[in-house]
Parts: sequence; structure tokens; C-alpha cells
Amino acid sequence: METVVSGIRSTGKLHLGNYYGAIQNFVKMQHQYNCYFFIADLHSLTTHPTPGDLHGHVKQVLVEYLAAGIDPEKATIYVQSDVPEVAELYLYLNMNAYLGELERSTSFKDKIRAQPDNVNAGLLTYPVLMAADIIIHRATKVPVGKDQEQHLEMARTFANRFNRLYNNEYFPEPYAFNFSDKLVKIPGLDGKGKMGKSEGESNVVNLSDSPEVIRKKVMRAVTDSGPTTENQEKPVEIQNLFDLMNVVSSADTYEHFDQLYNTCQIRYGDLKKQLAEDMIIATAPIREKIKEIDQDSSYLRQVAKHGAIKARESASKTIREVREIIGFRSF
Ligand code: TYM
Repeated sequence: METVVSGIRSTGKLHLGNYYGAIQNFVKMQHQYNCYFFIADLHSLTTHPTPGDLHGHVKQVLVEYLAAGIDPEKATIYVQSDVPEVAELYLYLNMNAYLGELERSTSFKDKIRAQPDNVNAGLLTYPVLMAADIIIHRATKVPVGKDQEQHLEMARTFANRFNRLYNNEYFPEPYAFNFSDKLVKIPGLDGKGKMGKSEGESNVVNLSDSPEVIRKKVMRAVTDSGPTTENQEKPVEIQNLFDLMNVVSSADTYEHFDQLYNTCQIRYGDLKKQLAEDMIIATAPIREKIKEIDQDSSYLRQVAKHGAIKARESASKTIREVREIIGFRSF
């Protein structure tokens, strides 16, 4: 059976981008593959070196994983820092990751623009840690959103380079995966790019947001003054709202508003109201479960403990074999 690995950084609440880009796939894949889903708390230190409540953020992602439908009986759910073997593999891979290729990564360039006062080595080697996360379980499929595509390409480079250097075929090549065969980019509400935590709270709809908050955020989304000629191309901020509608609303609803747009009869207030209601419906079951699971500390403890044991079993086997391949021997 093929192995699947994916993770989400513990830097805040999970949003619709995380859900439709990644988690929805996790939930489906757990029935068909050997799955490992983790909480990337080590990665979160690259942007938040002294998080006020590191444990609280990790707990938030754990609760939301479970609320979204990841079943700890089917998939292994664990916290990245509970598996120190990942850090060991990261160290080995770092020896064969080159400055030039790391500096060329788009996410590194974005990050140094976003945090010029903290261009740390962890940011530079972020893709190496991510490769270690994946190949520590020798995974082949990685459910992620479109923004992670380049990181997956780098993971393949590091895996292949290890194989070439040590003259073996130990690590298989990991590929980004989405059930629809196309990686997804969910737009945000700010009329620009993707939905993302770093773009600000008003740009994201969180899985835990209350109906009132969702309505408020969607009503404030950026629009233009409306179409003036029939069938004209939608400007990016309007296209974004339609793209969001495409994931949370029915095909009929989408068609209805698309028709109104194409005939210049659209009222954006109506579109936003509908979009907000459909987001509320889409997130309602998760929102309810978040509240329930959040209270159950002993269940959360048990899930994290069980997950760490299973993840370490797989990771320590890889580390044993990697050490042998590199040539470490004990006296
Ligand atoms: P992170 O925490 O930024 O995002 C987690 C997952 O959500 C997806 N995602 C989106 N998908 C579509 N549209 C969006 N607007 C959107 N926003 C976020 C991301 O593509 C991702 O799949 N580097 C990773 C975490 C990570 C990881 C790994 C993932 C660390 N190690 C190993 C896979 C395998 C990250 O920062 O994701």
C-alpha cells in the first residue's frame, strides 16, 4: 500500500484554504492509503520563533484535524516535534542541499520580503525539513495545495540526490496529490491572491469562525462597481468570489450568479449573502465538532501519544537504515 504524508503549520486556526487544498484530501485518503498527518510545529518556529502559546497552537490544529474527520484509528496523527528522527534526517539532508537552490525557492524569497529582520537559516532550509517530513516515512503521495508544488519538487531533488550519492534506490519520489488531479488554490477575500494566515485575518474564513463572523468577513470582501458589457471577463476580485462559490455552493447557485453577471444584472450584495450562507453550511458540522473535541483533553492526549508511537516506529526504521547506508557504525 502506498504511503501518504502531509502536514500543516501550527501558526493559527485552520481556514477554508487549508480545508479544500489539503484536509479534504486527507479525509478521503485515509481509507485507501497508509497515511501520516502531522502538525508542523518545528516549521512554525521559522516565522514565529517565540510563539506565546506554542502548545495551544498545536492543540488547535490537532482539534481541527479531528473535527474535520481525520480518524486516528485509520491515519497516524502526530506532532512533528514528537518525532526527533525527523530532525536527524533533516540534518543529513542538509549536508547535500545547496545554498543556490535553497535561495531560489519562491517561498524563501517571499519570506525574506515579509520578515527582513529575521532571515534565519531555518527559513532557508525550510524545504529540507519538509523533505525530511515526507521521506522519513518513504511516502509517495503528498496531499497539498498548489502553493506547495515547488517544495515537492525540491523534496524529489533531495530524495534523488541521496539515492545517487549513496548509490541505491532507498527513497521513492514523492508527488503532490489532489483527488481532482489538479492542485487547488483557494482565493482569499482581499481581492488579491490566495487565502492565507499571513495575509491577515479579514482575508481568511476559518473553520471555527461563527456564522456572524463569516457573514461580516464576506460582506466586506472587495468587489468592483459591476459589469457594464455582457459576458465581460471578471476582474480578479470578482473571479475570486466566484471561485469560492464554486467550492462551497451548488452548481445551480453558481450558474445563477454567473448568468446574472453575464447579463449585467448582478447585485454583489446578494452574491455575498449567498456565499456567506453556503460557507456557514459547509463549515457547520466541523465547527460543532471543534467545540466538542476541544473540551476532551484526555482524548487529545491519547491521540497524540498513540500517533507519536506509530510515527516513531516508522521513522526510526528509516533512520536505522539511513545510518547504515551513509556508513555510521557503532563500536
Ligand atoms: P501551510 O500550513 O501553509 O498550509 C497547510 C496546507 O494547506 C494548503 N493551503 C492551501 N491550499 C489551497 N488554497 C489555499 N489558499 C491554501 N492555503 C494553504 C497548503 O498548500 C498546505 O497543503 N510547508 C507546509 C507544511 C508542511 C508540509 C510538510 C506539508 C511541512 N512539512 C510535509 C506537506 C508535507 C505549509 O506551510 O503548509
